[in-house]
Amino acid sequence: MNDGSARKFSKGAAATLVLLTALGLFLCATSPHLAAAQSTNVAATPPMGWNSWNKFGCNVSDRLIREMTDAIVSTGMKDAGYQFVNIDDCWQVSRAADGTIVVDPDRFPSGMKPLADYVHSKGLKFGVYTDAGRMTCQKRPGSYEHEAQDIKTYASWGVDYVKIDWCYSDGLDPEVQYPKFRDAIAQSGRPIVFSICNWGVKAPWTWGPHTGNLWRTTGDISDKYDSMSLIGFTQNGLGKFAGPGHWNDPDMLEVGNGGMKHDEYLTHMALWAILAAPLLAGNDIRSMSEETKAILMNPEVIAVDQDAKGVQGHRVWDEGPLEIWVRPLADGSQAAALFNRGESALKITLDFKAIGAPASAKLRDLWERKDLGTVQNSYTAEVPKHGVVFLKVSK
Ligand code: GAL
Repeated sequence: MNDGSARKFSKGAAATLVLLTALGLFLCATSPHLAAAQSTNVAATPPMGWNSWNKFGCNVSDRLIREMTDAIVSTGMKDAGYQFVNIDDCWQVSRAADGTIVVDPDRFPSGMKPLADYVHSKGLKFGVYTDAGRMTCQKRPGSYEHEAQDIKTYASWGVDYVKIDWCYSDGLDPEVQYPKFRDAIAQSGRPIVFSICNWGVKAPWTWGPHTGNLWRTTGDISDKYDSMSLIGFTQNGLGKFAGPGHWNDPDMLEVGNGGMKHDEYLTHMALWAILAAPLLAGNDIRSMSEETKAILMNPEVIAVDQDAKGVQGHRVWDEGPLEIWVRPLADGSQAAALFNRGESALKITLDFKAIGAPASAKLRDLWERKDLGTVQNSYTAEVPKHGVVFLKVSK
């Protein structure tokens, strides 16, 4: 009897224990991902939009943002998939006595809420910038010790995207500071894309996936081939950290800002698409050329970037200044980019076997938007200096 009840008791206790353990495991497994689960929805594919910094620096205003919003709609950028209108540094000037962030009253006379409403009224989304340290990089008030308060304020304005920089953060640990924003976003109840911008400090790809939706992997891009290519071509190997809801960010686009040649901008855009990078245009959308539009709005290149499989591409071959990168796509095909980083036109051969493609493969040129037919074993293209031939390879 005693034995029996003891057995019975221990059976019950064991069942409870199993239940509690299962519950514990469930909570452990899910709670760090609660924010990530929420955030996956807001960035299931790499975010696309526009940001003020690369072209306008501190010269931001209500008028600029409204005009850019209009231009994103009228040029077709919105239909092409660009949805965020993001104000970078310099919109904030001080803090009120209760700590609330104060918007520059000269540049944004009606405040942020009406501006966010305007952006939303055009079917677009609205983003702002802050800094996890004591000041922003342009010495505006940072969010240090105001993390939850600032996120609450942004949510009350209707902010959909927040980029959080890392200037004036001496003695602070990004792995301690950034989760404060993640938790504040989760608490705000508003779906907000969380962009971590600490330039690769402390390998954000290792803690970024459970903290934010994207994390900068390097220092700032500038509108020069050397800057763009140095950033882009050194991203190899980071793909394993990226996926739906959490992306490596090699920085915003410079396409159309005038400092690179046409072929160099094609390389920029194709490389970012292969890298599953966020596509945040950084040019003046109001006055962009047809050439710039064709680069930023090529639907087939955007489709590679936004591919639902969410697998970042990698380098499969290189020799001297030549590199081939591939990215597997949801429909079973692959995007393959043949890059020439050299100073004169050179031939590059894509060997189908080397990328696991069938010996007889269908090729499409994504920049030309032209089928190249069914090709056997390999394909050789002449690639211009600093240029790219961007292909889709399918069965
Ligand atoms: C940098 C950041 C840039 C831009 C700038 C604004 O730290 O990487 O993308 O936001 O600050 O001051």
